[in-house]
Amino acid sequence: MDNIVLIGFMGSGKTGVGRELARLLSIPFYDMDEMLEQEAGMPVSEIFRLEGEEGFRKRESSLLTRLVRDKSGNASAAVYSTGGGIVTRKENIPFLKKLGTVVLFKVSPGTVIERIGNDASRPMLAGSGREKRVRELMLLRTPMYLACADIVLAMDGYSKEENALRTKIVLQEHGCL
Ligand code: S3P
Repeated sequence: MDNIVLIGFMGSGKTGVGRELARLLSIPFYDMDEMLEQEAGMPVSEIFRLEGEEGFRKRESSLLTRLVRDKSGNASAAVYSTGGGIVTRKENIPFLKKLGTVVLFKVSPGTVIERIGNDASRPMLAGSGREKRVRELMLLRTPMYLACADIVLAMDGYSKEENALRTKIVLQEHGCL
């Protein structure tokens, strides 16, 4: 089995559903944002504050290339959850594809607002006018997500557990498991 790489907007369930999916498949789960926080010794919001988005993106791309480089050494497949902005650097896309089967979790702006409307840990949505910002960013990023995805799954309206099961079924249907 190849790795499963989850992409999608903030609040699309990459981490929550991803963890549950990994449990269903009995394989490890890795969250790239968590790995970056561990490497940097600070939360993502602090990396943004000290190094700006550019500094964060450099760290993110560097981690991604290292994960791909180390892939052949890992016998077991894993589920990887990525940060919502990883597709904004064009050069990341071939690396995401090399890392594994890329699954896009598609959600509506309404779902994002409902889930992370008041979450202060998302620097990309800092400040006022969050709803407008979500819509703008999503519009801008949707073609990038689609350019990268092997599988697209609409996630609105289902629980975390249902979405993990739906993802597993789709992966089975695609012959990925
Ligand atoms: C970002 C999404 C975040 C995190 C960072 C930037 C983005 O990850 O990587 O705050 O640009 O969309 P989540 O998608 O897990 O929230």
